[in-house]
Amino acid sequence: MKNIVILISGRGSNMQAIVEANIPAARIAAVVANRPDAAGLAWAAARGIATAVVDHKQFASREAFDAQLAQVIDGYQPDLVVLAGFMRILTADFTRRYEGRMLNIHPSLLPAFPGLHTHARALEMGCKVAGCTVHFVTAELDHGPIVAQGVVTLQDNDTPDSVAGRVLQLEHQLYPDAVRRFVAGELKIVDGKVASPAQPAASLLAPAP
Ligand code: GRF
Repeated sequence: MKNIVILISGRGSNMQAIVEANIPAARIAAVVANRPDAAGLAWAAARGIATAVVDHKQFASREAFDAQLAQVIDGYQPDLVVLAGFMRILTADFTRRYEGRMLNIHPSLLPAFPGLHTHARALEMGCKVAGCTVHFVTAELDHGPIVAQGVVTLQDNDTPDSVAGRVLQLEHQLYPDAVRRFVAGELKIVDGKVASPAQPAASLLAPAP
């Protein structure tokens, strides 16, 4: 059994998708939020999953917050830490601690559009496609070895919200599958890239428009 700790900041729909995927040999050890009002906490608690809050507003520095967060996470002895809509910039010490065993999902086709407002920026640039990326977390924000990407085509009448809705559907497929592959030992980082020779097609989700 691999222990998974999922970090959220809000509604936690990706967390829900991962829980509901019932990944073989995986146990959701805890859901941890940096906001006491994160809606996903109640959802997890109602399913008997341990929950915890480390409220970033109670800490004077990023370092102090990250140190406490790590202590709480480590109490659950995680094999994998999953960032699922966790809206905090993490210190290099924190990312180093979980190197090779922490995943994030970002709503863009990285390395394009790290940071916020990704879909609005893609539309402003006249991009023809947008999407999401599951990647290992490194010290650099929204960077790190890419595990899988989902692609949607953009239409003239798209808005940031309409794109977000289509991309979120892909996120809910892509992220549980990436976690499953991690747990199955299928994800190896070689020369800074993820090698997954068993299932090359599993790394791309690109439904027909
Ligand atoms: C998702 O779009 C994810 O890609 C981004 O934040 C959003 C979180 O949504 N990092 P949810 O909390 O998982 O519903």
